Amino acid sequence: MRALHQQLRAAIVEGRLKPGLRLPPTRSLAALYGVSRNTAVATYDLLLSEGYLSARRGAGTYVATALPQPVERKTPAADPATDSRLNAFWRSFSMPVAGTSRSSPAYDFRLGLPEIRYFPFAIWRRLSARALRSIAKPPVVREHPQGRTALREAIAKHVSFARAVACRAEDILVTTGAQQAFDLLARVLVTPRRTVVAVEDPGYARLRAAFAAAGAKIVPVPVDDEGLMVERLPRAAKVICVTPSHQFPLGTPMSMGRRAALLEFAQARGAAVIEDDYDGEFRFGGRPLDALQTLDRAASVFYVGTFSKSLFPAIRLGFVVSPPWARHALVTAKQITDWHCGVLTQDTLAAFIAEGHLARHVRKMRQIYGRRREMLLSCLQKDFAGWLRPIAPEAGLHMAALTDTAFDSDAFVKRAEQSKVGVSSLRPFYAGRPAKSGLVFGYGTIDESAIREGLANLRRLSRT
Ligand SMILES: Cc1ncc(COP(=O)(O)O)c(C=O)c1O
Repeated sequence: MRALHQQLRAAIVEGRLKPGLRLPPTRSLAALYGVSRNTAVATYDLLLSEGYLSARRGAGTYVATALPQPVERKTPAADPATDSRLNAFWRSFSMPVAGTSRSSPAYDFRLGLPEIRYFPFAIWRRLSARALRSIAKPPVVREHPQGRTALREAIAKHVSFARAVACRAEDILVTTGAQQAFDLLARVLVTPRRTVVAVEDPGYARLRAAFAAAGAKIVPVPVDDEGLMVERLPRAAKVICVTPSHQFPLGTPMSMGRRAALLEFAQARGAAVIEDDYDGEFRFGGRPLDALQTLDRAASVFYVGTFSKSLFPAIRLGFVVSPPWARHALVTAKQITDWHCGVLTQDTLAAFIAEGHLARHVRKMRQIYGRRREMLLSCLQKDFAGWLRPIAPEAGLHMAALTDTAFDSDAFVKRAEQSKVGVSSLRPFYAGRPAKSGLVFGYGTIDESAIREGLANLRRLSRT
C-alpha cells in the first residue's frame, strides 16, 4: 500500500493529477495497479485523511481542490541557458515558438498564412472518411517511411505539370511540411563543425536553424535584384539554400543567369543545392522560369515543396524530390525521426490531388490572391509613394516594400500592432547586418477591404 500511496500523492503534489480530477473507482484502481481491492480502499482512505482527496457521496473520489501543502520541488528549476545537460547549441539557441497565441490582428498582414475560408472542407471530409474506411481494414502493417505510393505518384504528376519538375514517384520523400525536409537534409548533408552551408541573406530563419542545429557552419550570402549573389558564395560551400521562384522575403525571382551560375558552381564544387519552392504555385502572370531542379544536369538539386500554402499549414505535409544518391539516406533519416507521415492525411491528400481538387483550389485561390496583390500594390504605390517602394512579386503570398535605411521598421511594426495591424519588419530576416530596410506584407489571409483599411491605419501612423 505504501508504494501506491506514495505514487498517487507524488502525482497530486507535482500537479500531474490536477485538482478536481475524478479518480477511478477502487475496483478499477486495484485492477490497474495489480493490488487487492482492500489496498485500494485503504490508499484512498489515507489520502482522504491527509486532505489530498475529497469524496462526494455517491459521486466518486476526486483530487482535492485545495491541497494541504504548497507544491515543493526537490531541485531548483534549471535555467535552460546554463544547464550543462543541454548541448552547447541548445544552451545558446532560442527562437520564437509559433502557436502561442490564438488571436490575430484585425488587419492581418502576417507572413506565411494562406486563406482558409475558401478551402473545400466538405470534399476533404468525404475523402478523409473514405481513406479511413480503407485504412480500417486488416492487416495492420508498418508503413514505408518514404510515403504512400498513391501520394508520391500524385505529387510527381502535380509538380511535373505545375512546375515542370522532372521526377517520378520513387524520387519523392513525403515529409511533415518543408520544415522536416530541411531538418532531414541537414541530418544527411552536414558534418558537424565542418560543412559550410550558404543561405540567402535576408532569408528564412527556420531553415537556417535546422542546419545550425545539425552543426553546420552557416554563411549568409547577400541577395540583390537577381537573387542570391552567386559570386559571393564561399568557395567551401557544400550546401546552398535558395528560394528561386520567390525570394524569401524580398519576393524577387532568381534570374536565369544566376540559376545557371549557381548550378555551375554546385557541379564544379560538388555542392548540393536546396531549392525551397514554398509558394511558387501562386503565379500572377508571366511564364515562370524553369526550376533549378529542371535545369540541373548533375543531380545537385533537392527540390522542396509544401502544402502549407496551397492547402493550409496545419496539414503538415510537404516533400523533397531527391537525387538518387541521397534517397536512401533521407528515407532512413525519416524513419528514425518519426517513422512516416500519418497515413490518413497522406491518403486523403492523394485522393484530393488525383481527383483534381488541388489544381482547382489553386486556380481559384490564384485569382483571389491576385486581386489582393493588386490592391496592396496599388495602395502602396499611391498612398505611400516617396516612403515605401514595393517590390511587385510575380508569385507568392507576400510583398516587401523598401524604405530608407534610416527608417526604424522594428519600432514602426510595434506601433502598428497597437493600431491592430500585423505587419513584419524586414530587419529580423537578416542573419548578418541588414543591407536594406523595409516592411513585409502578407496578403494570404486578409481580404481586399481589410487591406485598404489596414493600410489607411498605417498611413495615419506614419504621419504621427
Ligand atoms: C521560406 C519558407 N520556406 C518554407 C516554408 C514552409 O514551411 P512548412 O511547409 O514547414 O509549413 C515557409 C513557411 O512559411 C517559408 O516561409
